[in-house]
Amino acid sequence: MAIRKVGVVGCGLMGSGIAQVAAASGFPTVVREVNAELLDKGLKSIDKNLNRLAEKGTITEAAKDEIRGRLKGTTKVEDLQDCDVIIEAIIEQLPAKRELFGALDALCPPSTIFASNTSSLTITEIASATKRPHRFVGLHFFNPVPVMKLVEVVRTIATEPAVYEEVVAFGTKLGKTAVRAQDSTGFIVNRLLVPYLLDAIRALEEGVGSIEDIDKSMMLGCGHPMGPLTLLDFVGLDTTYYISQIMFDEFKERRFAAPPLLKRMVLAGWNGRKSGRGFYDHSDPGNPKAIKF
Ligand code: 3HC
Repeated sequence: MAIRKVGVVGCGLMGSGIAQVAAASGFPTVVREVNAELLDKGLKSIDKNLNRLAEKGTITEAAKDEIRGRLKGTTKVEDLQDCDVIIEAIIEQLPAKRELFGALDALCPPSTIFASNTSSLTITEIASATKRPHRFVGLHFFNPVPVMKLVEVVRTIATEPAVYEEVVAFGTKLGKTAVRAQDSTGFIVNRLLVPYLLDAIRALEEGVGSIEDIDKSMMLGCGHPMGPLTLLDFVGLDTTYYISQIMFDEFKERRFAAPPLLKRMVLAGWNGRKSGRGFYDHSDPGNPKAIKF
């Protein structure tokens, strides 16, 4: 069975990006948010992205209208009923995800494939809330979704091989490079990225270098587009703290343990760009300034 229609649950940062990419790749797409206000916010961010692409000449005005025409917003979970694949990108809380998939399982035909964009929760545990763990995968995208070229396609021990191959092919149709990963906490990218980000905080704590110099070192010494502390502000300190706790809980290895400074910054509400302050002060978004501790 080919995937023709896409459902996305959640129209936040990741969900809106996934919905935009699916519609831009030619799929009729339905994106669902819990209320009209959040839906409107998510659809406006998609419009902003598409307008920017049209202004730059990356897409034509006609293509922009076609993409927008393929995209339908809704607050009703029932509107996802006829989608061939449903990608969940809601809050990173296991009970909320299990509840959502339990409801979708009762609503959708047995052929519908379910996918979670979770970055660190166990796919097997989310899938076990349904009667179709054999049609359940992880589809982990990266922020900003329209720009980052990768999607991790995650299989559990229960995922049916034909379903898995279909989703790998779907990831490619979305214009991404699809890599295959097992349902191991953090998959491939966060398994490697999270200890690196945490080590950058430890280096700062130990006075190895300043915020600016740690960032400059990895950008200019290793060719990374952002230094680790800038990337932490971009991903969100609360998000990274949460992922590190799940990974530490799973592996019990120090490299996944949150450094005390990260914990204190999150407790203080310094969550990075979205809160205006992390390792940098973002009150002037075009000119972030390193925090003096
Ligand atoms: N949405 C859509 N497009 C965006 C965007 C956004 N939020 N941000 C930037 N872009 C586009 C710009 O329009 C521009 O497009 P163009 O080349 O066609 O003009 C292009 O991306 C480059 O943007 P900029 O010139 O403004 O800035 P940069 O060259 O610095 O690129 C960046 C910005 C793409 C964010 C780059 O700095 C980068 O790749 N950073 C690293 C991001 C990263 O590592 N993401 C993964 C995070 S980990 C994760 O998501 C997993 C999770 O589980 C934690």
